[in-house]
Amino acid sequence: MALEAKIQELMDMRNKARLGGGEKRIEAQHEKGKYTARERIAMLLDEGSFEEFDMFVSHRTVDFGLDKQSYLSDGVVTGYGTIDGRLVFLFSQDFTVFGGSLSEMYAAKICKIMDKAMKVGAPIIGINDSGGARIQEGVKSLGGYAEIFQRNILASGLVPQISAVFGPCAGGAVYSPALTDFTIMSEGTSYMFVTGPKVVKTVTGETVTEEELGGATVHATKSGVTHFVAESEEEGIQLIRKLINYLPQNNLEDPPATHCDDPIDRLEDQLNSIIPDNPNKPYDVKDVIHAVVDRHEFLEVQRHYAGNMITGFAKFNGYPVGIVANQPCVLAGVLDINASRKAARFVRFCDAFNIPLVTFVDVPGFLPGTAQEYGGIILHGAKLLFAYGEATVPKITVILRKAYGGAYDVMSSKHLRGDINYAWPNAEIAVMGPKGAIEVLHSRELKDIKDEALRVKFLLEKEEEYKQKFANPYVAAKFGYIDDVIEPRNTRFRVIRALQMLASKKDINPPKKHSNIPL
Ligand code: HXC
Repeated sequence: MALEAKIQELMDMRNKARLGGGEKRIEAQHEKGKYTARERIAMLLDEGSFEEFDMFVSHRTVDFGLDKQSYLSDGVVTGYGTIDGRLVFLFSQDFTVFGGSLSEMYAAKICKIMDKAMKVGAPIIGINDSGGARIQEGVKSLGGYAEIFQRNILASGLVPQISAVFGPCAGGAVYSPALTDFTIMSEGTSYMFVTGPKVVKTVTGETVTEEELGGATVHATKSGVTHFVAESEEEGIQLIRKLINYLPQNNLEDPPATHCDDPIDRLEDQLNSIIPDNPNKPYDVKDVIHAVVDRHEFLEVQRHYAGNMITGFAKFNGYPVGIVANQPCVLAGVLDINASRKAARFVRFCDAFNIPLVTFVDVPGFLPGTAQEYGGIILHGAKLLFAYGEATVPKITVILRKAYGGAYDVMSSKHLRGDINYAWPNAEIAVMGPKGAIEVLHSRELKDIKDEALRVKFLLEKEEEYKQKFANPYVAAKFGYIDDVIEPRNTRFRVIRALQMLASKKDINPPKKHSNIPL
C-alpha cells in the first residue's frame, strides 16, 4: 500500500474511533441532555491542545459475543492537554460504547495517563459517565478498577485529582471519585451510589429513585460526597477550569500566582461595623471574606454542606489561599461533626499542595448533645485539630468575634503552630461564654439566692465582670497568643503583609512512615 493510502487508512481509523459507539448512540446521549466524551474534552481544554493516547486500543474479550463487537478506544478517551496553558492529564468515559463500562484495556488506558501524570507532576482530571464494571469481562474489570484505585491513592497528595460525574457512577466505581480531591456532579444527569435502587428495594424494602438515592443534590447537601454541583455540564467544566487556577501542578510547586489589580491596602470601612453589638446576633462571614480577598472573588467548596463552616479558595495579592471560616448565620457557627470533617479535609488538601491557610474565627464552641456524642464528635473534631496541627503551610488566623473553649484551640490557634494570629477588638476569647461560665463558677451562691429578681441581678453583675475580664482579645494578646489586635477595615492589608512575610516559611514534622489521623 502506498504511503498516501496508508495515511488515508489512518484517517479512516481515527474518524471511526472518534465516533465511539456510533451516531445513533451519540444522538441518544444528546437526547439525555448529555455531551459525548470528546465534546466534554473539547470544552475543558484550551483549543487545539489535546493530545490523545491509545485511540486504537480495543478490548480482548471473546465471551458473550464480544469477539464480534469491538470499538476503537474501547469506551474511554485519554490523553493530555492544557487549561489556560497549564498541563493536565485526563480521561473521559464514553457512554456510547458499552454504556461506558470499564474493561481491562479501558482501565489500562486510564492507568497509563495516571502514571504519566505522576511522573511529570501534573493534575489528573477524570470525567465519569459509566455503567460500571463491564459485566462480560468479570474479574478482569474488577481488577482494572482496583488498579485505578491504587493509582488514585499513590497520586493523592502528589498531584491534584479532580473528578467530574456527568452520568451514572455506580457500585465500586464510586470509589475512584471518592479517592480524588474534588468531585463535581451535574444536576439531574448524574448519580453516584454503592448499590442502586433495585438492590436497595430487595435488601431493605425501601423504595427510592436514583435521584433520591444518589443525585447531585443529595451528595451536595446530605452526604458531602460532592464538592460542587453544576446546573449543566458546561457549568461543571467551567468550574474545573476555575478550580485548576488555584492549584499547583504538584506537591513540589507553589500554587500559580497571577497579576493583582486590586490594591493591597484597600480599606473596607464596612468591616468596622459588620459585627452586631449583640454577641448573639448573626452576620454573614462571607461578607467578610468577599470584602478582603482580591476582586471579591471566592470559590466556595462544599457550599451546600455543613453551612456552619465555610471553605474555599481565593487570592490575596494574586497568590492563592485556602479560606476556612466559621459561619455565624448557620447554627451560630458551632463546630459539629460535619463541619469538622469538611474543614479537616480541606485543610489537609491545602497543606498537601502548599496553599497557605487563612482562617476566620467566630465559634461559640462544639455542638452539645447525644446526637453529636453518639456520632463521634470527639473523633471528628480531632480530625480538624489534627489537620491544623499537622499543617506546615503558612497559617494566618483572624478571630472576628467568639473563640470559645476547645474550638479556640482547634481553629488554627497559636498553639497549633499558627504563624500569625490576629483578633478584631471585639473578639471574645475564653473557656466558655459568660452565661455558662457564671453558672459553673457561682453554682453554690446561685443555689442560695431564692429571690428571682436578686438572682437575675447577681447573674448580670457576674456576667459583666466575666466579660470585662475574659471576653476581650487582650488577655490572649498579653500572653502573645494573639500577635496583634487589628482594626477590622485593615484586615486585607494585614493578611497580605503576613502572607508576604511568610512566603519563605519552612516547617517540618518529625520523620515517620505516616501519621495516624483519627479517621
Ligand atoms: C456491559 C453495559 C453495562 C455494563 C451498560 N451496558 N452497563 N454493558 N457492562 N456494566 C450497556 C447496555 O447493555 C447497553 O448496551 C448500553 O450499555 C447502554 O445501556 P442502557 O441500559 O441502554 O442505558 P440506560 O438505560 O441509560 O441505563 C444506564 C445504566 C444501565 C443505568 C448504567 O445500563 C445499568 O444499570 N447498567 C448496569 C449497571 C451495573 O450494575 N453495573 C455494575 C455495577 S457493579 P446496548 O448494546 O443494548 O446499547 C460495579 C463493580 C465495580 O461496577 C467494582 C469495583 C471494585
